[in-house]
Amino acid sequence: MDKFRLTHAAAQKYDDHSVPAMFGPLARATLDKTPLPAGAHIIDIACGTGALTREIASRLKGNGRIVGADLNETMTELAAQRHPSDAHEATYVASDVRELPFEDAVFDLAFCQQGLQFFPEKAAALTEIRRVLKQGGELKLTCWSAISPFNGALSEALSDHVGEAASTKAKAPFSFRDGNVIRALLEGSSFTIEAQQSIVLERRFDNLFEQIMALPIEKDLSEAGEVVTNAVVKDVASKLEKYRVGEAFVVPQEAHLFEART
Ligand SMILES: C[S@@+](CC[C@H](N)C(=O)[O-])C[C@H]1O[C@@H](n2cnc3c(N)ncnc32)[C@H](O)[C@@H]1O
Repeated sequence: MDKFRLTHAAAQKYDDHSVPAMFGPLARATLDKTPLPAGAHIIDIACGTGALTREIASRLKGNGRIVGADLNETMTELAAQRHPSDAHEATYVASDVRELPFEDAVFDLAFCQQGLQFFPEKAAALTEIRRVLKQGGELKLTCWSAISPFNGALSEALSDHVGEAASTKAKAPFSFRDGNVIRALLEGSSFTIEAQQSIVLERRFDNLFEQIMALPIEKDLSEAGEVVTNAVVKDVASKLEKYRVGEAFVVPQEAHLFEART
């Protein structure tokens, strides 16, 4: 767990690049499919820099309560700074999902957007989320359901030019994608699954070099040098040729959306 510590610069990069590219669109797609009950008490687990929390805050009607919780204080600090002043207010707390600083049964709804795959103890995490939900409360959880063609191409190019550690890093967000395994995990943690849907985003790459260098593997590429970096970018472009639209690439990225009740 201590491996997943992010610097302020990494949090900022995440919010400036990954949120507009993926996590903001995913948050909007999730909430379009699952409208919020007015006045709900809501926790966004592994909220990161608040991509989903902000969307919840802009949509929630009535006097609800919104909390964003994330392991990394650097993420919750930035989330609090960037929380829009014209939306419902939210509180951000730095907390491991296994030790949420709340009484039992205080939330009507919990969201967890692209967090589960990073939790080292997934069953313990779900049990803790269940504890803070009211009886009959709901968990809405998303996890990527397939390795995106972009990350697959990047991972292969990194394997060819940089090494296996960098290659594995590029695929890490897709490491827990089997819907049947996620179902079993939820049911094993005493959730009743009410719905399982699919969300498909279209991720646009206008500048592959810049977008690759905004990812955590930037460090590996910078260490490998300019020649290797250019070779990786060129390989990724050629592997994505079928997704080319003019000068850009438009690549699908698919997620599971689970809705489960306590
Ligand atoms: C891919 S990000 C998703 C963030 C956010 N939900 C979003 O959609 O932008 C994964 C998040 O999980 C958080 N995380 C990883 N392990 C965690 C844990 N044990 N407890 C709480 N949060 C954790 C990380 O700090 C990171 O912010």
